[in-house]
Amino acid sequence: MSDQTTEQVSPAIDIFPSFSIAPVSPYIFSGFLEHLGRCIYGGILPSTRTTFPYTPRKPCPEAQFTETPAALLTPEGFRVDVLEVLRDELRVPLIRWPGGNFVSSYNWKDGIGPREERKRQPELAWNGEESNQFGTDEFIAWCRTAKIEPYIVLNMGTGTLEDALHWIEYCNGTGDTYYANLRRKNTGRDEAYGVKYWGLGNEVWGEWQVGQQTASAYATKARQWAHAIRLVDPDVILVGCGETGINAWDGVVLDELADKVDLHSIHLYTGFGPRDRSQTEREYGRSVYGPDAAEYSIEVCKGLINKARFVKGVSKPIKIAFDEYGVWDETVGTPENGLEQFYNLADALAMASWLNVFIRQADVVDIACIAQSVNVISPLVTSATGLFRQTIYWPLFLFSKYMRDGISVKLTVTSPQFSGETLPRWISSIKGFPSDLDVSAVLYADPSAKTRSLRVAVVNRSETSSYDVPLRVAFERVGGQVEVHELWHADVKARNGWENENEVSLESRTVSWDGRWTFRNHSFTLLVIPLE
Ligand code: AHR
Repeated sequence: MSDQTTEQVSPAIDIFPSFSIAPVSPYIFSGFLEHLGRCIYGGILPSTRTTFPYTPRKPCPEAQFTETPAALLTPEGFRVDVLEVLRDELRVPLIRWPGGNFVSSYNWKDGIGPREERKRQPELAWNGEESNQFGTDEFIAWCRTAKIEPYIVLNMGTGTLEDALHWIEYCNGTGDTYYANLRRKNTGRDEAYGVKYWGLGNEVWGEWQVGQQTASAYATKARQWAHAIRLVDPDVILVGCGETGINAWDGVVLDELADKVDLHSIHLYTGFGPRDRSQTEREYGRSVYGPDAAEYSIEVCKGLINKARFVKGVSKPIKIAFDEYGVWDETVGTPENGLEQFYNLADALAMASWLNVFIRQADVVDIACIAQSVNVISPLVTSATGLFRQTIYWPLFLFSKYMRDGISVKLTVTSPQFSGETLPRWISSIKGFPSDLDVSAVLYADPSAKTRSLRVAVVNRSETSSYDVPLRVAFERVGGQVEVHELWHADVKARNGWENENEVSLESRTVSWDGRWTFRNHSFTLLVIPLE
């Protein structure tokens, strides 16, 4: 353990509640379900030997194939426990489906109609098999039960424009047409699904993708697709496929699509494996400071968006859909084990920093989808009969509960900085040394109770130092007791599991406020501060 801080400064947080950045979009608490490992089969449906998409070469001990009792399922056969956590605890507003890499060779027509007649197909992204027991109708039914908005990604790998138009007609068609009527036949109901969000492909830039393309080839094709899609349904919200927001791909695609898309999708994961593959543990600094790279990417992407809008004379704003983000060590969560990764406290601190980024960047980030929502690099891990919440669940829970309906406000942070190695390494040299204290704040007004409060999320990313910090609120007076919710454990490597589900969990209390708080080393704290 080392404390790699730069010069010593007296930490302080100054908050300016009257200086609004933007309202926080509730869609930053969105999720992602991919046909991968035990995400759908085991997370949404119970996994059985016939529905499980493949036999993992190295199954993780948590992967179980025993039947889930009917009492734990909805009438449609969905797991109740997962559905309840996503709907009632995390209040996930939107879910992206069916991939991810999976979508680039997915034929949606294999996933509709009588289940016993559906084709079991080779699955090319993750080298498995797809049973097609969960398709468009099941996804929409699950979304309706979970009160979640569906977001469907189109196959721009093996899929044709015609397939995509049929899929949109199947979901949204209201006329007397073949695919609209097929939906009526399959569901026994007249009403259309009205799917608004559609993604124009997934990571088409990636060499691992079925159907990888150059930026200009993709942009030309996506333009044609967008034009045709809006002829089928003019009300759709289209998401163009970006890279990380900062790459040449993003610039080329935005320049071409600025007048055709509503959102620009970017992806990034932090917490990749050890620098030296002979090491077995990730270094703390390479885990927790990574989200600073996402913030820089968003800032650059905002510039690329505005430049493209300027050149094309597009007055409507284009927002960012950060529709895959999260903490993923590819040496731990591998295709062989269905990307099942078990998270420690350091990973939870990174997750809190991710969410701080989205709050601070509220003016341009409209959607953020944690990858993924269950079992696959996820806050939730299921067995046949239950689930446990990983460490990374807790920041999501707190942000969703307290930061959701607020207005993101400006703040300044004076903090010691981290001078050790980050991942990516360029954070320090390009963006600047990351601050140990990573902070965001929202102003929340409750019109019915006529009360206002500040919600301040503080990650003390220092592994070794606690900081006693004044929190100064400009031009406002604090009126009453402050709620403190803290995620901490003496051991940054502590994690939850079947035997110790609450090893890392929240401690909440109410305190008299004297204008300062001591943020413990490697902790996440959310303060609810009432204003007069
Ligand atoms: O979330 C896992 C994978 O990561 C997704 O399938 C892909 O889009 C990304 O590379």
